[in-house]
Amino acid sequence: MNTKKTTTDLHWNSRAASVANDVEVNLMDIFQREIEYDYVCRYLEPHMRVLEVGCGNGFSTDRFRALVEHVDAFDYAEQMIERARTAFGETNNRFIHDNVLSPSALDGPYDCTICVRVLINLAGLDEQKRAISNLAELTKPNGILILAEGFTDGFGSLNDLRAAVGLPLLEPASINFYSAMSDLQPTLDEAFTLEETFHLGAYDYLTRVLYPLVVGPENAKHNSNFSERCSDLARAFNPDDFAPLSRMRGLVLRRR
Ligand SMILES: C[S@@+](CC[C@H](N)C(=O)[O-])C[C@H]1O[C@@H](n2cnc3c(N)ncnc32)[C@H](O)[C@@H]1O
Repeated sequence: MNTKKTTTDLHWNSRAASVANDVEVNLMDIFQREIEYDYVCRYLEPHMRVLEVGCGNGFSTDRFRALVEHVDAFDYAEQMIERARTAFGETNNRFIHDNVLSPSALDGPYDCTICVRVLINLAGLDEQKRAISNLAELTKPNGILILAEGFTDGFGSLNDLRAAVGLPLLEPASINFYSAMSDLQPTLDEAFTLEETFHLGAYDYLTRVLYPLVVGPENAKHNSNFSERCSDLARAFNPDDFAPLSRMRGLVLRRR
C-alpha cells in the first residue's frame, strides 16, 4: 500500500486523536448525517456483504452493520482505525487500514459499496477517477455503489443564493477537492448505471441560508435547536426543486 501522507491524511489522523465525542469525529453537523443515514440505509439488506470506504472512527459502520450480514470498513488514517476498533469493536465487521487509491487488504467483490464524503479528500480529479475505478472492481456485478459526495455544483448554487441575500460565501474546507458532477460522470458510466439519486437540498437551504439570515451568519452554529428543527422539516419536505442547493449529492449506482 502507498503510505505517503498528505495534509488531508494528517488532518484525519489528528481528528481521531483530538475530538472527544464519537459522533463528531467524522462530521461536525450531526443532523446532516442523520438525514444521510435515512437515504443510505434504505438500500441495505440483511443478506449483504458491504464495503464501507473511508469509515473514519466507525460511527457509521455501527449503524450499517446492524442492517446487513457483514461490513468490511476501511480508512487510510491509522488512528481512525485504531479508534474505531476501541470505540465500536468488531462484531459482524472488520476495521481495516487501507487506501482507496491502492486497496490491498480487502476481500471483494462486495454486494454493496458505501462511499460517503471520501472522494473529496483526494488530491484531484485523477485520484477521484482512480478511486471510482477501484470501487467498480470491488463491487459485484449487479451490486450497488452508494456514493454521497460534495460537488462544486451545489456549493455554487448555494453561494449564488447566499450572495443574493447578502450572506458571505461558504468556503469549502481547504483540505478538500470538489469536482463538478459532470467531471466524474464518464468514469462512473464506464462500469455503473445510475438508478437513483438523493440530495439534502431542503436541509442546506434551511441551515445555510434561512438560519444565518434569521440569526446572523456569525451566530449560525452546528447542532443547535434550530438545526434540529431544520432537519425535522427537511425530512418531511425535500422536493427536487431544492436539489441544486444541495452541497452533497447521493448517487445509487448499479454495477454492470
Ligand atoms: C469526511 S470523513 C468521512 C467519514 C465517513 N465516511 C462519514 O461519512 O462519516 C473522510 C474519511 O476518508 C478517509 N480517507 C481519506 N483519504 C482516504 C483514502 N485514500 N483511502 C481511504 N480512506 C481515506 C479519511 O481518513 C476520513 O476518515
